[in-house]
Amino acid sequence: MQKAVVAKLGEYEIHRCDREDIPSIIEVNMKTLPEHYSDYFYHEILSEFPETFLVAELHGVPVGYIMCRIEYGFSHLKRLGLARKGHVVSVAVEEEHRGKGIGTGLIMASQDEMAKKSATECYLEVRVSNAQAIGLYQKLGFKVTGRLEAYYRDGEGALVMAVQIGK
Ligand code: ACO
Ligand code: ZN
Repeated sequence: MQKAVVAKLGEYEIHRCDREDIPSIIEVNMKTLPEHYSDYFYHEILSEFPETFLVAELHGVPVGYIMCRIEYGFSHLKRLGLARKGHVVSVAVEEEHRGKGIGTGLIMASQDEMAKKSATECYLEVRVSNAQAIGLYQKLGFKVTGRLEAYYRDGEGALVMAVQIGK
């Protein structure tokens, strides 16, 4: 199937995920992250938030993905008040394809889509020990806005990081 390309990075293409990409995305997730999800979870996010579920492919083979939700709730950036927020649930790039801007491309493309859905901020949780991901988020302007103790199953804590999006 011919899919609309959201962004191009050299030989890599970012496009919207579709149902047939999910098995390969699950494989990427298995290889790259300790947080795994049921097939149902991926399909549910895809059907609810198709605009911000993106896949990076090299010659048609998925090597990275980002999946997000759009939520409404307390702002991570304004002292008081509510905001529409894009929540990055999971982002990953296979190890041999890292450091080429794919993670950056996935996050920036998803933020464009979040902004089109009227989100004004983007946030995520990340393991306190995940220097690579934290470095990338900082480079993209994310600030630490909170800390969640024992957020992960193995007891590790998370940083909450957020950035304003749109104009
Ligand atoms: N220390 C600090 N920052 C680092 C390090 C490091 N050791 N390594 C990389 N970075 C940062 C730098 O800012 C770097 O930018 P630069 O190349 O301009 O210096 C940036 O990471 C790399 O950017 P990209 O090439 O755009 O990102 P990449 O395609 O390599 O993907 C990702 C980044 C997704 C975090 C990848 O490393 C990965 O898949 N890691 C394993 C899975 C993971 O941890 N995912 C995030 C979990 S949190 C969540 O999902 C919300
Ligand atoms: Zn595909």
